[in-house]
Amino acid sequence: MLNRIFTPFPVLTTKRLTLRQLLITDEHEIFTLRSDSEINKYLNRPLSNTIDDARNFIIKINENIHKNAALYWAITFSDKDILVGTICLYGFSDENENCEIGYELLTNFQGQGIMKEAVEKVINYAFNTIKVKTIEAFFHRDNQSSINLLEKVLFINSNKSDETNPELICYHLSNSSNNLE
Ligand SMILES: CC(C)(COP(=O)(O)OP(=O)(O)OC[C@H]1O[C@@H](n2cnc3c(N)ncnc32)[C@H](O)[C@@H]1OP(=O)(O)O)[C@@H](O)C(=O)NCCC(=O)NCCS
Repeated sequence: MLNRIFTPFPVLTTKRLTLRQLLITDEHEIFTLRSDSEINKYLNRPLSNTIDDARNFIIKINENIHKNAALYWAITFSDKDILVGTICLYGFSDENENCEIGYELLTNFQGQGIMKEAVEKVINYAFNTIKVKTIEAFFHRDNQSSINLLEKVLFINSNKSDETNPELICYHLSNSSNNLE
């Protein structure tokens, strides 16, 4: 069984970052993340058209955390509490002892190693606290930034396709190969 109790919310810290729960006051940044055409270029998801959409998204996400169904962190700087991106773990399977990871950064904050720092911390949390054995990432095969990021943290191509969308590829990381601590 996975250790999936997400209350109290697990705030994580790294050298530069604090990963905290989403707040309603993050609605403008969430709106940008979920409406910006560049950020969403390879993401097949409903876009936010209004601030209300973003606010409803935050409410839904926090309900899912309350139900221990998913974890979704706001990525902030430890010395400045503004949301610069998000990172999430979802699709938990107690049977397969696995989950999926997703992430996104506001364009102004890309190219600074922020996501690598956040991903490393979340991987450690998934392996060492939730006790998943494998983390998977599904993303568009042309999403080179995502491939670069995942390969830097030792994910490998699973060479399997998503039945619902042949343009998606899958990368995975198994706990046995986790040497990020
Ligand atoms: C995927 C995504 C998060 C990657 O962002 P990113 O900024 O490239 O990733 P990182 O934060 O790890 O930064 C890496 C870059 O910062 C540079 N960098 C600068 N300072 C650094 C530091 N201190 N440490 C590490 N890298 C640093 C690296 O050299 C690298 O640059 P490069 O891309 O020119 O090689 C981003 O492209 C994104 O949000 N895309 C849209 C959403 C998406 O597609 N998500 C994936 C599907 S779930």
